[in-house]
Amino acid sequence: MRVLVIGSGGREHALCRALALDPQVSELHCAPGNPGIAQVATTHAVAATDPGQVTALAERLGVELVVIGPEAPLVAGVADALRAAGVACFGPSAQAARIEGSKSFAKQVMTAAGVPTARARTCTDAEQVAAALEEFGEPYVVKADGLAAGKGVVVTRDRAEALAHAKACGRVVIEEFLDGPELSLFALCDGGTAVPLQAAQDFKRAYDGGRGPNTGGMGAYTPLPWAPADLTAQVMERVVLPTLGELGRRGLPYVGVLYAGLALTADGPKVIEFNARFGDPETQVVLDRLETPLGGLLHACATGTLAAFGPVRHREGAAVTVVLAAENYPADPVKGDVIEGLDALPPDAYVLHAGTALRPDGALVSAGGRVLNVVGSGPTVAEARARAYEAIARITMRGSHHRTDIAADV
Ligand code: AMP
Ligand code: GLY
Repeated sequence: MRVLVIGSGGREHALCRALALDPQVSELHCAPGNPGIAQVATTHAVAATDPGQVTALAERLGVELVVIGPEAPLVAGVADALRAAGVACFGPSAQAARIEGSKSFAKQVMTAAGVPTARARTCTDAEQVAAALEEFGEPYVVKADGLAAGKGVVVTRDRAEALAHAKACGRVVIEEFLDGPELSLFALCDGGTAVPLQAAQDFKRAYDGGRGPNTGGMGAYTPLPWAPADLTAQVMERVVLPTLGELGRRGLPYVGVLYAGLALTADGPKVIEFNARFGDPETQVVLDRLETPLGGLLHACATGTLAAFGPVRHREGAAVTVVLAAENYPADPVKGDVIEGLDALPPDAYVLHAGTALRPDGALVSAGGRVLNVVGSGPTVAEARARAYEAIARITMRGSHHRTDIAADV
């Protein structure tokens, strides 16, 4: 099977790594990719968000499957264009991807499907904002009602900050605060049925102890030893399947990954957000534990044949990833710093490239805020964590920073 992956981050490197390990995958391409991805796939300088360019590339390469990583190409209609051209695609249509792109659409779907989530109000002016802050009380949760790559949310006890964020965003969703540990569950969907991958947890704040600004994610681990044994079954039954059913009723059959961001509250799991793509960096650890070959699995989703595919298996043990971030990430990351030490990693650890580039002289340099994902694995979360931190200690990059408490209290 010839496969094309769209995207250029750590998540796409993890997807490419897993696809390259699938014996059914005979040829692997990625657009645009990055220097790490180029070690396992042929990369192509094509704009990921241009439906015409991506479709032309897929047709030229004669691929049997396109896997779309980030949300921007989904919202731009890349999956629609591919399917219209008869190319099997893992990724929802632009209309279905609104489950991520529009917080108010997601709330409507959840309400109609009876999915447990925070009570919420969509507000378009200062008066509505003030009333909603009053109604739900602190901590205040204020979300931009548009695509914000996981960065458009402010959770604060400071009313002035909540008001300022609402004003800056224009249209916002204000909601009740959900109290409980957060987790991410990815369901692979084929338009009819769905299968869950193993749950993971990520760490969104920039600094140790959950302090500092929100980021795309500074690390992650799987499995979650603290979660109830039936958590995944509960989430499938109460959240994923009703949501897919409601989307189907609206004429928006969902093909791709439905990412449920959940809080495990005293009343059970409740949805914080949906995403229409794999989570980053949770994917890096979940795919490390996935035993079922990824290419065949995603192809079954893209072709509506998941029901006949058979069970999805994960390997025993755990994986932890720690993000190496650039100086001044997330505010205004510095680029162009030289990365060294990648050739001397301990066993049971490896590096996925997130924001890297090759300089004309061949040096590997930073090219984004999140630069590398260092992944460690082992029989337990503690051992996987030790491997990941042993590995990151051997990597040097001027100005870099990482959290030292990823998966520390598990
Ligand atoms: P989102 O972009 O919706 O994932 O929000 C980013 C982060 O804000 C989440 O991962 C949570 O940590 C936090 N958050 C969002 N909504 C809520 C909520 N209703 N209650 C508690 N925390 C929330
Ligand atoms: N790790 C959070 C996200 O991908 O949005």
